[in-house]
Amino acid sequence: MIPTPHINVSEQGIIAETVLMPGDPLRAKFIAETYLENPVQFNSVRNMFGYTGTYKGKKISVMGSGMGMPSIGIYSYELLNFYGVKNIIRIGSCGAIQEDVKIRDIIIGMSASTTSNYASQYNLPGTYAPTASWTLMKKALDIAENKAIPVKVGNILSSDIFYDDEPDVWKRWARMGVLAIEMEAAALYMNAARAGANAICILTVSDSLVSHEATSAEERQTSFTNMMEISLELA
Ligand code: HPA
Repeated sequence: MIPTPHINVSEQGIIAETVLMPGDPLRAKFIAETYLENPVQFNSVRNMFGYTGTYKGKKISVMGSGMGMPSIGIYSYELLNFYGVKNIIRIGSCGAIQEDVKIRDIIIGMSASTTSNYASQYNLPGTYAPTASWTLMKKALDIAENKAIPVKVGNILSSDIFYDDEPDVWKRWARMGVLAIEMEAAALYMNAARAGANAICILTVSDSLVSHEATSAEERQTSFTNMMEISLELA
């Protein structure tokens, strides 16, 4: 079954059991070159770059997911079902929809509500609650505490729409206690659950729909570094 249509790797073991997934493939390249020792590129199909290297002696891969649930749905499915991947740690950005969620905060998605119909494929006689791996969650919280990096944990929204025709629709999710909006976590959590694997989503807040603030490049770098410190220890 390998190579798969979207990942051009024909041997098992080239991709590590744990994969970090930023949305942007150039971010994956930057992470591999900045944080991993001896990174080797394993994928370039559609420029969705993937690399394997080591971090403190641990074998880790990092690969882009693209934007949105269809994109991360494809890449995470192939990684989990054809390449023996056991853990996927999505690292990304999100827009805050609560007053007390500030730009630069780090959010961990305990659960991911969604506007998407992705769960319909499972034909469940009800609605499904896409949920992060407890094992990864517990470990991530221990790491954050040890490093004194504050994190907020809760429900996030994986939206199919960035430019919504109804610009204030987020307020209804905010009323339900949802912390922030992104576009990928729910599909990742469902694919991992279905494959019997682990996933978690660690995000930095890049903008706020409440205050209309956005992070400067410098601020993004600091919160990105904190998010990376947690994710690399976790991997
Ligand atoms: N919406 C969806 N995805 C996002 C946002 C947002 O406001 N900010 C960063 N990723």
